[in-house]
Amino acid sequence: MANDQRASLSSGGYAAGRLLISEEDLQARIRALGREITADYAGRAPLLVGVLKGAFMFMSDLARAIDLPVEFDFMAVSSYGHSTRSSGVVRIVKDLDLDLADRDVIIVEDIIDSGLTLNYLRRNLLARNPASLEVCALLVRENHRMDGSILRYEGFRVPSDFLVGYGLDVNERFRNLPDIRVVASAPDADAGTDGGAS
Ligand code: IMP
Ligand code: MG
Repeated sequence: MANDQRASLSSGGYAAGRLLISEEDLQARIRALGREITADYAGRAPLLVGVLKGAFMFMSDLARAIDLPVEFDFMAVSSYGHSTRSSGVVRIVKDLDLDLADRDVIIVEDIIDSGLTLNYLRRNLLARNPASLEVCALLVRENHRMDGSILRYEGFRVPSDFLVGYGLDVNERFRNLPDIRVVASAPDADAGTDGGAS
């Protein structure tokens, strides 16, 4: 990797470190998820609900891997607290534009860590009477025992390291990396860690 590119992988005391999932592996798995969803929803027009901001890149590639007339909507939620930990307090920052009544809804999430965000979203969206509600998460923590009735589609199991890239950020940086990396401390770390946007 060129030196200037390596420098751009370091920001605010953090660096995008060890490669965990390559671009090729991400894209191959997303194509497989798309085929699965295409088969499962044949004859229907699922509504993909992306959770901003982290899921935007995954949602974009996933949608192109689904050979059905999908529709899109987005929700933004924010959890308060330290930028690398979920506090469990979820606040809707941007609500959906579309009515979910009688729709086949698929929540598209970047990563399920504690599961608190997903738990909150599921309960919130179920109350809007969709015809069906499933969840598609790109990443799920290894130690998570999540019921198949809650998590229908998952991309990869990942260790507990804090991850960046492909939509995932630390303090809003590194979302545009094409792969998933483990966060590391930059050699001359000095910046703060406030924040908390998903
Ligand atoms: P949960 O509520 O603990 O499941 O947290 C879910 C949200 O926290 C995700 O949608 C992400 O926005 C964020 N998050 C959790 N782990 C990571 C990580 O390793 N990197 C970046 N964001 C993360
Ligand atoms: Mg998120």
